[in-house]
Amino acid sequence: MPKNWKTKLIHSDAKAPEGFRSLSTPVYRGSTVLFPDAASVEDTWNQHEVGYTYGLYGTPTVLELAARVCELENGYRTLITPGGQSAISLINLALLKAGDHILIPHSIYGPNRHLAARLLRKFGVEVSFYNPTLGGEIQSVMAGKTRLIWTESPGSVTMEVQNVPAIVEAAHRSGALVVLDNTWAAGIYFDAFGHGVDVTMQAITKYIGGHSDLLLGSITTRDKNLFESLGAAQQLVGTAVSPDEASLALRGMKTLAVRLKAIETSALQLARWLAERPEIQLVLHPALPSCPGHEFWKRDFTGSSGVFAIVFKPEFSKDKVLAFVDALDLFEIGYSWAGVTSLAVAYDFRGNKNRPDYGHRIVRLNIGLEEVGDLQDDLSQALDRLQ
Ligand SMILES: Cc1ncc(COP(=O)(O)O)c(C=O)c1O
Repeated sequence: MPKNWKTKLIHSDAKAPEGFRSLSTPVYRGSTVLFPDAASVEDTWNQHEVGYTYGLYGTPTVLELAARVCELENGYRTLITPGGQSAISLINLALLKAGDHILIPHSIYGPNRHLAARLLRKFGVEVSFYNPTLGGEIQSVMAGKTRLIWTESPGSVTMEVQNVPAIVEAAHRSGALVVLDNTWAAGIYFDAFGHGVDVTMQAITKYIGGHSDLLLGSITTRDKNLFESLGAAQQLVGTAVSPDEASLALRGMKTLAVRLKAIETSALQLARWLAERPEIQLVLHPALPSCPGHEFWKRDFTGSSGVFAIVFKPEFSKDKVLAFVDALDLFEIGYSWAGVTSLAVAYDFRGNKNRPDYGHRIVRLNIGLEEVGDLQDDLSQALDRLQ
């Protein structure tokens, strides 16, 4: 059938040469996915079971990222979400119902805590917070209807390493599920499923992305039924992921091992050096004995990443702590750690009875890929200025 040039704009016969082979995964864009015939049309989310049906459920770029995260975590299957926080909310939405009880450690990433306190309670979920140093004793705060126990190890900012296997044992005895935010370990340094965890999530935004230029999350399960509950909920919530972001994450993943190694070495050197500084009371780095739960890090982890916290001695006022952060030259001030740039952020837990008594004296550092000697010089000059 002859075509008008306007039709050719949409239905072209022109073709690029075939046979191009590249080392990178193509960025497949698409909302509409074509079906071979009228009878094959269906709107099913699980593209592993039925083939591709709709862009919302992932183009091959997104599903390749999912498969590769799953491979690294040794899971059954992975879902990719638009960010770490959306992974957290999808897990809660998919696995909880009104009347269920959920347990969340005080040390968990703030927005995870706020989601539970501000939204889940509105939907009739009973929410309790627990001390992250509880292991098997978590039994004492569980209720008959406890459905889900969140863990994050080490915790955000205060860095408590949790006794995850003991929590798993107590949870499974009562039929509860354990979910782990495994972002700090990049899904690598802590083998979540090997330690009995049921569901993991990561902010891919952090180490897998690795360059502070994307937002993505992942949810991985080791159980088919859990994966199906989560996937079905994702279809209804509609949390689609851009293939461009997934492509950046796939590129970031290729250098994850070398970045993690360099960051680990620098972070450890700086943490040990800071522990000797007269201004510093405490270094909260999981690989140092001064960190709560260090013994669990030693037992359960195969390495450490680049985020840790320092606590100033009591004589340092809030203004002094802020002046230290401002005096840093190479360390930038900003959220979302795990990129190549070192960052520093001061926190203030004054008046919060559920956080350790670090008050305004705690600063979280993210170590990047700068030369470690330069980072040490930068910290040194900023500390010297406080005298
Ligand atoms: C431990 C942890 N989990 C989850 C998130 C949320 O990730 P995102 O920023 O991709 O939503 C963050 C972000 O800072 C985090 O630090």
